[in-house]
Amino acid sequence: MTTSEALLKLEQLSRVFTVRRGLATSRFVAVDDVTLAIAADRPEILAVVGESGSGKTTLARMILGQVVPSAGHLHFKGRDMTRLSARERRIWFMKEVQPIFQDPFAAFSPLKKIESYLYETALNFGTATRATVDAHIDQALHTVGLSLKEIKGRYPNELSGGQMQRTAIARALTTNPSLLVADEPVSMLDASLRMAIVNSFRDLKQQQGVSVIYITHDLATAYYAADRIAVMLRGWVVELGPAEQVLGNPLHPYTQILKSSVPEPDPRMRWTEKVALARQELDEFSATGCKFATRCPFAMDVCSRVAPTNLVPDGRMVKCHLYDPAIPAAQKHRAGGAIPLTPVASTKAS
Ligand SMILES: Nc1ncnc2c1ncn2[C@@H]1O[C@H](COP(=O)(O)OP(=O)(O)OP(=O)(O)O)[C@@H](O)[C@H]1O
Ligand SMILES: [Mg+2]
Repeated sequence: MTTSEALLKLEQLSRVFTVRRGLATSRFVAVDDVTLAIAADRPEILAVVGESGSGKTTLARMILGQVVPSAGHLHFKGRDMTRLSARERRIWFMKEVQPIFQDPFAAFSPLKKIESYLYETALNFGTATRATVDAHIDQALHTVGLSLKEIKGRYPNELSGGQMQRTAIARALTTNPSLLVADEPVSMLDASLRMAIVNSFRDLKQQQGVSVIYITHDLATAYYAADRIAVMLRGWVVELGPAEQVLGNPLHPYTQILKSSVPEPDPRMRWTEKVALARQELDEFSATGCKFATRCPFAMDVCSRVAPTNLVPDGRMVKCHLYDPAIPAAQKHRAGGAIPLTPVASTKAS
């Protein structure tokens, strides 16, 4: 896909952070060499999944222009994002790419009527005039199953979490965006309300051609709503492809483990355990070979020494030596046996 055909194109995108480790500081790559694209003529829902600390939010913040990439390229509608002027960013880019946050209440003051946010956004971005703004807002609210009549005159504490998140999405829609970047938009909602949110993403895509980057820990809604899924591990995208392939028949051992149980830190964990986990996280981030090697049930000798490249065994991208045709099958079977190893083509992801 050329840059001009892409709505969004990330090429070898990386972000380095420095952290203190005892007296020393060390660098680690929170997003490491990520390449992916969303086509301009094919709106889609791209879910980004992965355990805590895998770089999902950092990736989202780079796409939103809130974190500056350390390396690589980021193009939106053919424009190099790192070269936008402050004015272009404010007038054009922020209208095109809208964020949706985890906590819908955080973006709304409890003292202000909810509809005022929608009016302000639509009028400030110039997507409606005084004469058209009511109809414009009502239409945005209808897309998420609400109406202006329902929210008019009401304050945030009068709406449920689910209604507030839908209002937040409607507010984002008033700028007529072509991309929403939603970072854990359902994690504070009950399971029963999550479907309403992801269904509104699907409606948006189908009815208005809006693409959505949907970051979540909830694999069930990712599977249900997303066209493609990108699985992140310590800054890498380790598997990327159609949702049915990635979660229906995961190839990367990390995706397989993620599917059986998302390893999340227990909030009641003792601080010594937290320190150990943070140390493991940093060690994995700075691994010379595969970042999953120490935890992988199928690890081979090569895994701790050499970082895997992006392979394309069956149309999806997988970053794992098990799918490298240059490594003898006998070696792979000794390591795992049970892992599905066919078909394996030698094409490399671009
Ligand atoms: N500004 C920063 N400075 C230093 N380190 C950072 C910064 N922002 C994020 N990190 C680190 O980068 C790594 C990736 O963090 P990020 O928030 O992107 O992960 P995540 O996948 O969104 O996690 P979660 O699922 O918990 O939201 C973590 O180790 C985090 O501590
Ligand atoms: Mg996050």
